[in-house]
Amino acid sequence: MGEKTREIATLNLRGTAYELPVLAGTENEIGIDIQKLREKSAAITYDPGYVNTGSCKSAITFIDGDKGILRYRGYPIEELAGKIPFSAAAYLLLFGRLPEEKEFLQWRTDLTRHSFIHETLIQFFEHFPPTAHPMNILGSMVASMSAFYPYDAEDEQHIMLNIKRLVGQVKTIAAFSYKKSIGEPYIYPRSDHSYGANFLRMMFATPAEEYVVPEVMEDALDMLLILHMDHEQNCSTSTVRMVGSSQANIYASVSSGINALWGRLHGGANEAVLNMLEQIRQDGGDYKKYIELAKDKKSSFRLMGFGHRVYKNFDPRANLLRGAVDRLLSELGIHDPLLEIAKNLEETALKDDFFIERKLYPNIDFYSGICYRALGIPTEMFTVLFSIGRMPGWIAHWLEMREDPDTRIQRPRQIYVGSPLRHYHPPEIAPWDLVKQSKLF
Ligand code: CMC
Repeated sequence: MGEKTREIATLNLRGTAYELPVLAGTENEIGIDIQKLREKSAAITYDPGYVNTGSCKSAITFIDGDKGILRYRGYPIEELAGKIPFSAAAYLLLFGRLPEEKEFLQWRTDLTRHSFIHETLIQFFEHFPPTAHPMNILGSMVASMSAFYPYDAEDEQHIMLNIKRLVGQVKTIAAFSYKKSIGEPYIYPRSDHSYGANFLRMMFATPAEEYVVPEVMEDALDMLLILHMDHEQNCSTSTVRMVGSSQANIYASVSSGINALWGRLHGGANEAVLNMLEQIRQDGGDYKKYIELAKDKKSSFRLMGFGHRVYKNFDPRANLLRGAVDRLLSELGIHDPLLEIAKNLEETALKDDFFIERKLYPNIDFYSGICYRALGIPTEMFTVLFSIGRMPGWIAHWLEMREDPDTRIQRPRQIYVGSPLRHYHPPEIAPWDLVKQSKLF
């Protein structure tokens, strides 16, 4: 896997031919190994956005963006999402195989046992201003966990314990930040609830009465979280690997991933889609106007939830969600006018030459927001939900990076385009000397 083939790629540069080994992946993806290129030729490669650059070998997730294929550890996403519980899929991603019955029960128990936030850390919620975005809170809380749970980086049992804490606590932090924002008491996790049911209970229960988690909501949440679980070397996962490559601790690495996910071109798109649909609704539902705006090169407006760096055909996650959203809304008896706007937008865009030529299809975020909304999740929490789902993926990559003998600290090169050599000739009195003399600081 990811092994050298007998093929050689040749690069001719300034009269010299450089032979470069060719690698092949399990699914015959081809990579040119340029590890020795700079050493031999002094040249580097230039690839903004790393569109053509493979940063590692990985055995976790396979994507074929042209065929719309997504597999976790070899299993097609269609055979996992909506079919197995979130905690089983998390086990698969982290350990490379599905759990046996005993392993599953133990894993579920471990995740609940480690889902309690350190009581002192809970006090941190009090110090965020009411305006704090939940992603802000989540990133800061996860980074702070390393202060509460320092660990021996060489001890595998310590690492495993902290992995359980991260997967277990991320949903508790998310639910507590919501409870804090609405001024309700925190609801603690229970060991007789599944991962998803615990999250929903912590979000929506109150101490005043018993809360029974509707099964339809639990199933929908599990499906959404599994669909978000991994997507190979995306921006946030690459961030986790990059930070981890410096041997930063797991909390520092993962909280950096959370911050990377927040951006609206990445995980923040689900919130942006809902805001866009709401804006269109308030604008009288004139979706065609927004399609035209997205095509207008003078405007910076983009159709949020459309396009993907890897999928140049349909996004299989969006396909699954398109079906799920109809079922969910009908089972919950909800009529959401935003769904109609979304469907009209999709139908019109898919027939439009601008989107056809650029191979722009709806991505996972196009329909996930409508599902979250049906579950009663507030819009600003959408990317937090993405983070809960992505947590096992980030950790699986962090572990793989740590165990890979090829891992080196990540340190890209650059083409310098700044000033050529110039020299500093000190003036008689420099501006900073004047400031210093004036004793302004
Ligand atoms: N609306 C209108 N035009 C678009 C869009 C869009 N959503 N996405 C891409 N384009 C155009 C873009 O203007 C460019 O046109 P041209 O070739 O004429 O300059 C062309 O399509 C290629 O776009 P790009 O920005 O070079 O593509 P990229 O691979 O760098 O960016 C993307 C991928 C997902 C950031 C981008 O498609 C986008 O901004 N989409 C909207 C945000 C979004 O939905 N993000 C969620 C991604 S899926 C969840 C996740 O995994 O993070």
